[in-house]
Amino acid sequence: MGQTRLDKRICDSGRWTRSEARALIRAGRVLVDGTVARSPEEKYPDAASITVDGAPLDCRRTRYLMLHKPAGLLSATEDRDQPTVLDLLSPELRRLGLFPVGRLDKDTTGLLLLTNDGDFAHRVTAPKSRVPKRYLAVVDGALDESDAAALEAGITLGDGTQCLSAHLERTERADTGYVTVYEGRYHQVKRMLAALGKPVLRLHRARIGALALDPALAPGQYRELTEAERAALFRQTENGSK
Ligand code: URA
Repeated sequence: MGQTRLDKRICDSGRWTRSEARALIRAGRVLVDGTVARSPEEKYPDAASITVDGAPLDCRRTRYLMLHKPAGLLSATEDRDQPTVLDLLSPELRRLGLFPVGRLDKDTTGLLLLTNDGDFAHRVTAPKSRVPKRYLAVVDGALDESDAAALEAGITLGDGTQCLSAHLERTERADTGYVTVYEGRYHQVKRMLAALGKPVLRLHRARIGALALDPALAPGQYRELTEAERAALFRQTENGSK
């Protein structure tokens, strides 16, 4: 089992900087397995239980958030001129090195995952993982059976790119449908529907694999994934690990 310096573990929680963590320890506010710790440098087993002012410390190093992305924000960690989805997070979470798993366009809303687990992000986005992504698209025009058939056959984009088979589920509204894609090309849904002469007016991601956007989250809100949600999505990426 690994061992980690106490000040580092406290800092990894995202709530305090390394120097704040040292000050907490020196002030006797940190207990390790029930005993006051005095030395920031001391290493403890990763399974040791740590409290600060009596409250258990959340030492998970890897975090997984689902965000209901609103329109108007970039799916990036920083930008010189425009707000990004990271601006929605609490200061504690912003210290943890989280980044978006794949991208949604600035005007696209819906499910966006944020993590600091590079392997997880890679597996969810790797083309060979074939994790389905389901979007609700409102188009200028009416979606019909020939669009569904063309998507199923695989659209050739304007630049000659051949897309994998995708699925269209029509709704009661002719201008609205659920499109499921199994890859993540740049502006993919917009470009596929544009190729069918049905330009997208609004796009919202409803689902990534087993994970649906939590309806309790208003635009701009986020929550941690449960362990079961994270594990279910991870299992769906098994092709992407090879
Ligand atoms: N496809 C698009 O065209 N835009 C998105 O934001 C996501 C998928």
